Amino acid sequence: MKKICVIGLGYIGLPTSAIFAKAGYEVVGMDVSERVVESLNKGEVHIEEVGLPELVKEVVEAGKLRGSTTPEEADVFIIAVPTPIHEDFTANIDYVVSATKSIVPYLKKGNVVIVESTIPPRTMDDVVAPILMENGFDTQNDIYLAHCPERVLPGRILIELIENTRIVGGTTPVAAKKAGDVYRAVVTGDVIETEALTAEMSKLMENTFRDVNIALANELAKISQKLGVNAHAVIELANKHPRVNIHQPGPGVGGHCLAVDPYFIVEKAQAESPLIQESRRINNSMPDFVVEQIEKLTVQVAKPKIAVFGLTYKGNIDDVRESPAIEIYEKLAHNPRFEVHAYDPHVQNEQVPFELSSFEEAVKGAHVVAILADHNEFKQLTADDFSSMASPVVFDTKNCTSLAGDFVKLYRIGDLSMLQPIQL
Ligand SMILES: NC(=O)c1ccc[n+]([C@@H]2O[C@H](COP(=O)([O-])OP(=O)(O)OC[C@H]3O[C@@H](n4cnc5c(N)ncnc54)[C@H](O)[C@@H]3O)[C@@H](O)[C@H]2O)c1
Repeated sequence: MKKICVIGLGYIGLPTSAIFAKAGYEVVGMDVSERVVESLNKGEVHIEEVGLPELVKEVVEAGKLRGSTTPEEADVFIIAVPTPIHEDFTANIDYVVSATKSIVPYLKKGNVVIVESTIPPRTMDDVVAPILMENGFDTQNDIYLAHCPERVLPGRILIELIENTRIVGGTTPVAAKKAGDVYRAVVTGDVIETEALTAEMSKLMENTFRDVNIALANELAKISQKLGVNAHAVIELANKHPRVNIHQPGPGVGGHCLAVDPYFIVEKAQAESPLIQESRRINNSMPDFVVEQIEKLTVQVAKPKIAVFGLTYKGNIDDVRESPAIEIYEKLAHNPRFEVHAYDPHVQNEQVPFELSSFEEAVKGAHVVAILADHNEFKQLTADDFSSMASPVVFDTKNCTSLAGDFVKLYRIGDLSMLQPIQL
């Protein structure tokens, strides 16, 4: 049975390690973070993902998966390190570069090296392959180098790692075949071989497609407010057309995929990507749009208390990276008019640079509860849960609550034309 060394034990690398270990491989998970490696070696996980604690415990106890702060010799190396953007929106591939360099001393002829991190177009050919070649490896013959982008949905990672179709972009056709075979051992979905550049672009276009379509829905929400029409009713009816699928408006686009990957294309094709750039601008404008609505709602309140519900970039996860909810919290908190409290049942205090409140602390005496993530906990709220508010106004930016009754005044992004300032 083959040995696999996974570099980077985050939301992608840790579940990937556990799945290969469960399939019987000997897996070493390597991370630069001692905290992450220590917790893995105790059979514990440091991230929230459905089913992962049980699976990791099982494979660690079975001796199939262990953590290390240095790479080890293996048959297959899988790189799953972060690829964020710099402040100027250019790609930061430093982690991929250092991860690639770190495996060089452990590489042998015949090894398969797979980059799962999302990367800008041509990174495999222009950055990763040259690092190996500079170190004496012939990437055309000796090392099988491929890009296999991840397209899992947080909350369903363990299912989707197995069931999703995988795109395997080899730097040579043989590399695509060898890397494809690695996945065929555990994946029940199709494993499709292609070239590295095509795989890089297909991943980026998947997320760009979603970002552009969310921008269209957000634009519709703004237009609807001006025209006095309910965008949700418009979307529902338009989507009855068999070839139309308008997405949902919301408080902005976050996470390190949709809010990041389009910039990787823009950086490489600036003049050719005006639609992608405008979509990013529209989605980036949504936190300001949310704050403006809260300002309009509270214009007649001397010291409005705002309860921000949900800080993650999507529901039922603990990931706050690039979250528009954090931006909204900070914009509100920087305005001395507001007293702002944040509540999120999925987020620990050490994940954010401000104090979190309990549900009761956040709601008591609040003038507006702004729901910014569609956690299941929020979907189940009833009007009674808001009885301690000073003025029971809920601004649901995710269209996820179903608060019945007259007691709570409910506003949603997409249906704001009747917005009235709070009268105390
Ligand atoms: N999380 C997702 O849902 C998702 C989905 C699709 C694609 N991706 C992509 O997968 C890649 C990894 O994302 P993630 O969410 O797992 O990131 P993450 O931040 O959760 O984890 C990355 C891990 O890599 C470690 N690391 C950083 N540099 C390292 C190095 N040189 N050597 C070893 N370890 C190193 C970090 O300590 C961290 O534990 C990114 O490119 C991301 O865009 C993520």
